[in-house]
Amino acid sequence: MRKKIVAGNWKMNLGFQEAEELIEEFMTLLEKQELKTEIILCPPFPYLEMASDYAQEELFHIGAQNISPFEAGAYTGEVSASMLSSMDITHCIIGHSERRKYFNEDDKMLTLKVNQALTHQITPIFCVGEALPEREGGKHFEVVRRQVRHGLFHLDTNEFAKVVIAYEPVWAIGTGVTASPAQAAEMHAYIRTLITERYGNEIAEATLILYGGSCNAKNAAEIFAQPGVDGGLIGGASLIAEEFLSICKQAQ
Ligand code: PGA
Repeated sequence: MRKKIVAGNWKMNLGFQEAEELIEEFMTLLEKQELKTEIILCPPFPYLEMASDYAQEELFHIGAQNISPFEAGAYTGEVSASMLSSMDITHCIIGHSERRKYFNEDDKMLTLKVNQALTHQITPIFCVGEALPEREGGKHFEVVRRQVRHGLFHLDTNEFAKVVIAYEPVWAIGTGVTASPAQAAEMHAYIRTLITERYGNEIAEATLILYGGSCNAKNAAEIFAQPGVDGGLIGGASLIAEEFLSICKQAQ
């Protein structure tokens, strides 16, 4: 039985004080629960140190939203994997559609980012997903296949086994429109087939595949109940402590 993960992607939201209040409120609510779900909070870079001070191994982990493709040196503005791991950051979102779109992150760059994360013991949460015209044109499987293959299939089995995948259809992100539970289940099953072909059944069955895109307290239970959906990557709804907790509970 695979564990469930719920990760909160705060994106570029909240001032420092609001961020600290959100973590405190979430922790207070969480302490009263005994959740089996693995919870990961992904605040913006400047708040990572504060957040990791709050993080307690058993309650939640802290992830970054981005990572440099380079090891170290003259790369103004970049944050390296070794910096993150030296701050006890355990996870990193890589290949989010917003980074692919607004920052031109292509497959080549994403492989470098994945490699950096793994070299420094950071778990990549690798995002894939098709845009609306691709879905409407019946190209969604092809697009996701390319993203998974080009972004991850250079890894050897041991490396790949450390990766978490998030299926986030671009048309569902921040739009209030989720994939139907059947659409999510279908794509998760397809991704698992690709993994089986490349790494074998055992690895495919062990790989965690999250769903992301307008997931909220109202629809989470139904999505998480789908076969092959191992939790969620949550954007907007992760900014409200009570709602995020409710989503975490529904992943159990
Ligand atoms: P959303 O974002 O939940 O606000 O749709 C999800 C994501 O982009 O990871």
